Amino acid sequence: MGLPVTHPQAIDGGDARNVRGDPITGDRFWSREFAQKEWDHMWKRVWHVAGRVNEIQEPGDYIIHDFMHESVICVLQDDGAIRAFYNACRHRGQRLVWDNGHQQSFTCAYHGWVWGKDGLLNDVPDPDDFPQGDPCGKLRLKELQCDTWGGFVWYSMDPNAPPLMEYLEPIPELYKNWPWDKLVRVTNLKVELECNWKFASENFSESYHTRTAHPQVPAWIDQDHWTSVLEMFPNGHGRIVQPGRPSLRDRPAEGEPHPFDDFLVPWDIDPHQYPDYETKVMQGWLDLQEAKQRLWREKGYLHYEHMTPTELTDSPHNVLFPNVTLSVLPDDVIFFRTEPHPDDPNKCTFDLWHMVFPVEGVTEVETMGGRRKVEEAEFERKVFDKGRGVPEMHGQIVFQDMMLAEGQQRGWRSQGYDDAYLSGQETRVRRWHEVLNDYIEGRR
Ligand code: FES
Repeated sequence: MGLPVTHPQAIDGGDARNVRGDPITGDRFWSREFAQKEWDHMWKRVWHVAGRVNEIQEPGDYIIHDFMHESVICVLQDDGAIRAFYNACRHRGQRLVWDNGHQQSFTCAYHGWVWGKDGLLNDVPDPDDFPQGDPCGKLRLKELQCDTWGGFVWYSMDPNAPPLMEYLEPIPELYKNWPWDKLVRVTNLKVELECNWKFASENFSESYHTRTAHPQVPAWIDQDHWTSVLEMFPNGHGRIVQPGRPSLRDRPAEGEPHPFDDFLVPWDIDPHQYPDYETKVMQGWLDLQEAKQRLWREKGYLHYEHMTPTELTDSPHNVLFPNVTLSVLPDDVIFFRTEPHPDDPNKCTFDLWHMVFPVEGVTEVETMGGRRKVEEAEFERKVFDKGRGVPEMHGQIVFQDMMLAEGQQRGWRSQGYDDAYLSGQETRVRRWHEVLNDYIEGRR
């Protein structure tokens, strides 16, 4: 059980009475038949993230999002709108573009049809040779719903999808105090993993694994479920909000450093002023909120302007159904996303976007892949290969998660596994699968 929920739409994600109890069977993670159902009933209906809004600044700038066997172009229009089109020529189907770029029109490489950036066909060779009539000015690229939130470009393949803001409810409202459009993506990495995409959605729906898998974390984020808020929302999204202070259950051994001191000192708080560890943790957490409220402008943390005291310290970790996780921290937002392999449910890709808010005078930040300049990063694609493909991430939380992924996949395929035996604080895991079942079985 966690703390009481904080939002009127929230359902307590620490109480197993709030789920039906659908079994989480192993075949969900490896069967091609189940993957096909996901495509047919879920992936074609949800909203997908195509990229960052700041990647398309000038009319004609476009980004591509390849998803399974599909590809979508999101292109900025003269009026500032972003429109999304299937990346397929309507003459005989040729893919139009392969990479992000800038063009006022898209000329098909096969027979030279020219599509305007508004999707309208502008020119073809031999326009008078079509018995159905000249297709120019008549045919359009197939268009998808497209919108923005959080500095992200989103699209849905479902013409009847609910509006994005409705689909995301109540996430935009919960995080309205963050200036999302100011974020700079300092890491833009895609890693190939040997596991089903649902590994990450499950993994990020609970923090029960943290003490075992990430023993470094309780020293700076409280991992006790009774001090956390565990929430599930009607549209399938969920979150855990943990205080940004050490867990009192995990007191560092005598003589060990206190990582929390590194949070206090930059805000002019003397960590040695407290009479004991408990006081440092509990009073220091409040002192940190007070100092940030008082000093944010002077220290150049302009993105703090509208944040509440707990938003200035705490750690909300959100899973947006189905596959986007946002860790919304005071100074940065970490976007995690897994996407299925087009043909093999035993594989996926894992996107890691580390985004930071610029702070006056700060030119470099610490990331999960080492120190990085505060500037937009180039895209990188790597193969995890049991950790050998990303040695720079060794010891990081997300590396520790990825190290577990293949073992989960093996276990889900074993006859020794037939359902999960969940703790109360893992209730969101079952709920997440139940929402997926609702899509697949036509209840959503
Ligand atoms: Fe595009 Fe023929 S397939 S012009």
